[in-house]
Amino acid sequence: MRVLLVGGGGREHAIGEALVRGGAELYVVSKHKNPGLARLAKGYGLAKETDIEKVLEYAEKFGVELAFIGPEAPLERGIVDVLEENGIPAVGPSREAAKLETDKAFARAFMERNEIPGRKVFRVFTDVSEMRSWVDEFGRPVVVKPIGLTGGKGVKVVGYQLRDNEEAKAYAEELIRRDGRVLIEERTDGVEFTLQVFSDGKRILPMPLVQDYPHAYEGDEGPITGGMGSYSCSNGLLPFVTREDYEKALETLKATVEAMRKEGTPYKGILYGQFMLSKDGPVLIEYNARFGDPEAINVLPLLRTSLLEIAEGIVDGNLRKAEFEGKATVVKYLAPKGYPTNPVKGVKVEVNEKAVEEAGARLYYASIDENLTLLGSRAIAVVGIADNLEEAERIAQRAIPHIKGELFYRRDVGTRESVEKRIELMKEFGKEFEPNPC
Ligand code: GLY
Repeated sequence: MRVLLVGGGGREHAIGEALVRGGAELYVVSKHKNPGLARLAKGYGLAKETDIEKVLEYAEKFGVELAFIGPEAPLERGIVDVLEENGIPAVGPSREAAKLETDKAFARAFMERNEIPGRKVFRVFTDVSEMRSWVDEFGRPVVVKPIGLTGGKGVKVVGYQLRDNEEAKAYAEELIRRDGRVLIEERTDGVEFTLQVFSDGKRILPMPLVQDYPHAYEGDEGPITGGMGSYSCSNGLLPFVTREDYEKALETLKATVEAMRKEGTPYKGILYGQFMLSKDGPVLIEYNARFGDPEAINVLPLLRTSLLEIAEGIVDGNLRKAEFEGKATVVKYLAPKGYPTNPVKGVKVEVNEKAVEEAGARLYYASIDENLTLLGSRAIAVVGIADNLEEAERIAQRAIPHIKGELFYRRDVGTRESVEKRIELMKEFGKEFEPNPC
């Protein structure tokens, strides 16, 4: 079957690879030519992913029977609606359903009216003085969020990016003046984790849990990025997430899909739940309407079921199974020096793919063009896959010296020390549990 993949990052390289492994004939449209996807694809169109007309033109030219949407920006523009109106079923939510990610005020109000578990106290403000009075009255630390897509930036938390509620009010005022609205939520203390599921609108099938490292520098320091790496465990859980916590997080996503269906906006595609594990259980931090990047790179290489079959199940409303190999994974992203604030661009890097393979790792290309010139965002991901975390981390680490250039990465992603730190943090937050093996 001819399948069009929209998007050209590391996440999409992993999706494209899984589609081809699952029997698809792959075509790609993205704004730059991803060297990994270029090799896998039968046809490649260069266009901005948000230029829906151009994507449709390519879809028709390539004669595809199905599309798979990688990033969120084209979902916000209604790419799935347009492709479907033109007879091309697509994996990804409609514009309305994608609001779970693209409109944070919608997502919170939706959770509230449907009593979805894992809710938070929140308010949306358009008026500066009302916002200021509410924050004063609330008294506890808050999180300030722009309503729309922020590309991972823009969310600010008291105690982290904001010193106190005074700074929170000033930032919220700035957002009201800029966007007309702002979302303010209670801060939840804990450790974050990701649960991704496939959804056909009625049924969901879960993927292994993943933990992302969003900070740019080692020791969880520095600016927030799209994610400098991530790990997953062979049992599909995480060391600090118990089976009971996992079931609760899954219940949040199940209830979400059920309520979306009841509200007449069925959710089809990948639903990504970013959870904060508090001492009282998982709280939903935000929904994403697509695979995570790098989280897709952890789970897709483990997928035993054909991704093409899953994609067909999603669009037909007939999702049956999604089985994963029981292995641990560690993804490390190499990003241009200076990323995310002032990244090096336009210089070439050297990649010895054979040596990476001999090290036992896999490699995924992202923001880098066909002649290996850096484009300014995360450039290349390496993945170690093994029976346990230590071995997976060692494999990923062994691959890194075979990629040379003006790049940096986080040595601590997936190391035992950094995982222990998260377990300790959870205990400090008051959670009593026995850590799972990984
Ligand atoms: N890694 C976070 C995200 O994909 O949004």
